[in-house]
Amino acid sequence: MYKIVIKGGKRLAGEVWVSGAKNAALPILASSLLARGQSTYRNVPGLGDVVTMRKLLGQLGAKVRGDGTTVIDTTNVNHFEAPYELVKTMRASALVLGPLLGRHGQARVSLPGGCAIGARPIDQHLKGLAAMGARIELEHGLVNARARRLHGATIVFDLVTVTGTENLMMAAVLAKGGTTLENAACEPEVEELARVLNKMGAHIRGAGTPLVTVEGVDELHPVDHAIIPDRIEAGTLMVAAAITRGNVLIRDCMPEHLDAVTAKLRAAGAEVTYEEGGVRVVGKNEYRPTDIATRPHPGFPTDMQAQFMVLMSRANGQSVLSENIFENRFMHVPELLRMGADIVIDGHLAVVRGPVKLKGAKVMATDLRASACLVLAGLVAEGTTEVLRVYHLDRGYDHLERKLRALGADIRRVRGGL
Ligand code: EPU
Repeated sequence: MYKIVIKGGKRLAGEVWVSGAKNAALPILASSLLARGQSTYRNVPGLGDVVTMRKLLGQLGAKVRGDGTTVIDTTNVNHFEAPYELVKTMRASALVLGPLLGRHGQARVSLPGGCAIGARPIDQHLKGLAAMGARIELEHGLVNARARRLHGATIVFDLVTVTGTENLMMAAVLAKGGTTLENAACEPEVEELARVLNKMGAHIRGAGTPLVTVEGVDELHPVDHAIIPDRIEAGTLMVAAAITRGNVLIRDCMPEHLDAVTAKLRAAGAEVTYEEGGVRVVGKNEYRPTDIATRPHPGFPTDMQAQFMVLMSRANGQSVLSENIFENRFMHVPELLRMGADIVIDGHLAVVRGPVKLKGAKVMATDLRASACLVLAGLVAEGTTEVLRVYHLDRGYDHLERKLRALGADIRRVRGGL
C-alpha cells in the first residue's frame, strides 16, 4: 500500500501535460467489442480503471496488449459475462452490456451495487435495451440479457445518464433500423465515443446534444483512434494552480470542454487565459466566494465539485455548493474538517466558509474525486498531509503526484498507510 505525503505551501509553476480522458477511454475500449479484428487506441491514460477494463476485455476472450497505445483483438471473444469481482471495483464494467448484446446477442453483467457516492442504479440502461427488444432477467445479482438482433426504438431517458447514453448508443449501432435517444447526455465523452463509432462505420448523429439518432448498420470495422484529453484532470490542475497562487500552463487540453470550470475560477478571481497550446491559470492571494451547482454538461461537472471546495475554503466569505447529480458526494467534507475547514452540510448543499488556514493531517480518500480534493488541500495546508487509500486516486489519475511534483509541489508517494 502507498500513501501520498505532501508538505504544503509551494507555489506551482511551469507546464503540465494532460493525459487521455478516463471517461472517454472506458466506453471506447468497450466499443472494440462491436467489431471483429484488431483496433488500436492511442493516448490511453495509465490508470487503474483502464487496467480493469483491459482485464475485463481479456476475460471476454479479447487479446489486449500495450498501455499508452492499447491494441485489442476481438477475433476470439467467446465469453459474455462481466463478473462481480470486476464490476464491484469498477461500475463502468457495465459498458460491455450494449456492445456484447449488439454484436453477440447475449450479455451477463453483474448488477453494480451502490458505491461511495450514491446508489447509482442502471435502470435506464436496461429500460432502453428492453425497448430495443432485449429479454432481460435479473437473477442472482446478474443482469442476463439476450436478443437475436436488437431493433431500433425511441427511448426517452427519465434522467440524464452518461454511461446510459453510451451503452444504448453502442447497442443501437448494430440494431435493425433507427434509434432515437431523447434527453441524452451531452458530455464530451459521449461525443467522443460517437466519433469513434462513426469511424468504425456507424451512423450516429447529434451526439453531444440531447437528441441522438442512430441508424443501425450490419457490421462495423476495427479502428485506430487517439483519445481526447481528460477535462477533469485538466480542471483539477487548474484548481491546483489557483489555490497555490501559481502560474501554470496546462497543455494538451481542450479549452472548450472546460468552460464551466473556467467561468467559476474567473468568478472566484483567478486569471484564466486560453493560449496557443493550452490554458494558463494564474492564482491570486485572495478569492471571492462563489456558488456552484453541479449539473449535466455543459453545467458544472460533479467530478470537479470536491476539488473546487478547497478553493472555496480559501475565499473571503461564504460559498454554497449544491450537488445535484449524486446523493452522497460529500464524503471528502469530514476529512477537510479534520484539516480545519469550516463546512456545513445540509442535504445536497454544502456551505463553505472562508478563508481558513488548512492544517496538514492524516486523511483518508473515500472515492476518486475526494482523493484529488485531499491532495489539493495538502498542497495549501500548513505542515504535512498524508493521504491514505491512494488506490482511489490511481483509479482515475495518471500519476497526479508526478505532475504536481514537476510543477514544484513537495509531494511524494511512499510505502505505508492503508
Ligand atoms: N442514474 C439512475 N439510473 C440509471 C443511470 C443513472 O438513476 O440508469 C442516476 C445516477 O444514480 C446518478 C445520475 O443518474 O444520480 C447520473 O448518473 P450517470 O449515469 O450520468 O453517471 P455514470 O454514467 O455512472 C459517469 C462518469 C462519472 C461521472 C458521471 C456524471 C464514467 C465512467 N463515469 O458516471 O465519473 O461522475 O457520469 O457526470 O463515465 C468519476 O470519473 O469520478 C466519475 C464518477
